[in-house]
Amino acid sequence: MISIENATKRYGETIVVNGVSLTLPAGGITTIIGPNGAGKSTLLSLISRLLPLDSGMIAIDGLDIVSAPSDALARRLSILRQDNTMTARLTVRDLVEFGRYPHSKGRLTAADGRKIEEALAYLDLQTLADRFLDELSGGQRQRAFVAMVLCQDTDYVLFDEPLNNLDMKHAVTMMKLLQKAATELGKTIVIVLHDINFASCYSDHIVAMSNGTVAFQGTPDDIVRPDVLQAVYDTTFDVHELHGNRIVTYFV
Ligand SMILES: Nc1ncnc2c1ncn2[C@@H]1O[C@H](COP(=O)(O)OP(=O)(O)OP(=O)(O)O)[C@@H](O)[C@H]1O
Ligand SMILES: [Mg+2]
Repeated sequence: MISIENATKRYGETIVVNGVSLTLPAGGITTIIGPNGAGKSTLLSLISRLLPLDSGMIAIDGLDIVSAPSDALARRLSILRQDNTMTARLTVRDLVEFGRYPHSKGRLTAADGRKIEEALAYLDLQTLADRFLDELSGGQRQRAFVAMVLCQDTDYVLFDEPLNNLDMKHAVTMMKLLQKAATELGKTIVIVLHDINFASCYSDHIVAMSNGTVAFQGTPDDIVRPDVLQAVYDTTFDVHELHGNRIVTYFV
């Protein structure tokens, strides 16, 4: 469980995460939705200590992220950032090997090797493993970063917009993979998505952020409703039932 109490982050005078208190349950998929600038990425960065909290407290299964040693945190939680950039010229396999670093400290064992091959296969990257990252398409590069994060093999995995650049087939494959990681491997998956229909079909729990606060949270049935979505996004939505899921259409 990730416990967030009164988490606050400011840039100058502007509060971008405003006293957020939230419990993200262990297991399953929790999706954070909300408009551009709502504070979703900032919240993920606070949870993973990529950004320091200005005030408040965050704990992962009781481990206070402010005082936790870096390697203890890295073995508990991994994150895919929204804006992945790599300055070094790396191949896909080099990048995925990086995911094992908190475990191997640079000395890869046979078990690390198996995790790396597994992650490459999961993300359909075997034929691209020896290509440099700057020789890949946007979606291929996105899959390479996801493979690196999965290879870290942590109980908690945070993905900021994992469907970026993915075509429909790879987007569905990605969501099924995350669902499998939650159900079969018992991982806790927290993702930021803009596609409400993917959020609706694959989430156990949805958190809707707006203006640096949690505006609503609940099951897809609680959140994927015209009134709730209109309040969050300030635009009109139609919600339809299809094969037991709620599907949204929106027109401006
Ligand atoms: N380094 C920074 N300096 C100043 N303001 C920042 C900085 N980083 C983010 N912000 C501001 O903080 C607010 C929240 O940004 P954040 O990236 O968390 O939004 P988001 O919900 O992830 O949006 P998006 O859907 O566009 O990714 C925005 O208004 C943004 O302009
Ligand atoms: Mg963001």
